[in-house]
Amino acid sequence: MYILGIETSCDETGVAIYHAQRGLCHHLLYSQIDMHSEYGGVVPELASRDHIRKLIPLIKQLLRESDLVTADIGAIAYTAGPGLMGALLVGAAVAQSLAMAWQIPAIAVHHMEGHLLAPMLEENPPEFPFVALLISGGHTLLIEVRGVGQYQLLGESLDDAAGEAFDKTAKLLGLSYPGGVKLSELANQGRSRFRFPRPMTDRPGLDFSFSGLKTFALTTFQKSDQTLQDKADIAFAFQDAVADTMVIKCRRAMQQTGLKRLVVAGGVSANTQIRDQLTTMTEKEGGVIYFPRLEFCTDNGAMIAYAGYQRFISGYTQGIEIFARPRWPMSEL
Ligand code: KG4
Ligand code: ZN
Repeated sequence: MYILGIETSCDETGVAIYHAQRGLCHHLLYSQIDMHSEYGGVVPELASRDHIRKLIPLIKQLLRESDLVTADIGAIAYTAGPGLMGALLVGAAVAQSLAMAWQIPAIAVHHMEGHLLAPMLEENPPEFPFVALLISGGHTLLIEVRGVGQYQLLGESLDDAAGEAFDKTAKLLGLSYPGGVKLSELANQGRSRFRFPRPMTDRPGLDFSFSGLKTFALTTFQKSDQTLQDKADIAFAFQDAVADTMVIKCRRAMQQTGLKRLVVAGGVSANTQIRDQLTTMTEKEGGVIYFPRLEFCTDNGAMIAYAGYQRFISGYTQGIEIFARPRWPMSEL
């Protein structure tokens, strides 16, 4: 059976086809980055309108390039939340309409479950149970994962999400949207000169706090000569602090749960420094680390098709209501 996956929670229109036996067949992504960069960040109303323009043509292209017809599709999975309400509604309305027209089930998928399961699309997927660190633009979550749908929250960010902290710090250094990648590129030219705090690592617990790092970056920047090298050194110190903090918390989570497998996913897991430091730590602990391939770290339709498939085989489908939840705690899954 083929499952169509639709992702429209933020600034990327993603579609994919997953097959029960053959795995991922095809996926396409349209990024709105160029459109939003003019405004220095995502403009929700423009995001929704662009999803409306792009989604149906993208689905048509996906089917054509996969040599499939609509009758081949057995279910439609779509991101129902969390995310921007208008953007989510586009995906939800299109998915439900197609499901009704094609008389197949629709499956509402939690965006972060999509990220969490993205490494399952790789050649050596992790076995359950494992610890997952989900680091995206809207969330920072440490979760003990016992199986699909069995998620125990171990820790989360009490303020800014990791990606949000990257983006805000990038902005105050004058970098253009989307800042996360630009900040990490700048950090590559930086030197070890400033020492930023490792927030909430000096006390027990697995929660995070990143907003102080952003302020630390701002005051360091204001006190400097504000040259390009100063910016690069601040970017370096910021990234180093974020990576180190994640290493400390993940090690703690693995020790606390006794689990040796660590899954790291979400947009920020594309960061090379963070990947490298977490890999070194996990190996030192005698564990194994898993990431999605780079293009599936950030938002995509493939992870939604896969998560939808997992929901489908566990017997979950939905009625015909258009279901979209901008806020949706994973604990309610
Ligand atoms: O998962 P994602 O695509 O969307 C959300 O679900 O939020 O994550 C986007 C976030 C953005 O904040 C972006 O700046 C950050 O991931 N990001 C990065 C990198 N690539 C994307 N942050 C740091 N380093 C990167 N290489
Ligand atoms: Zn995401």
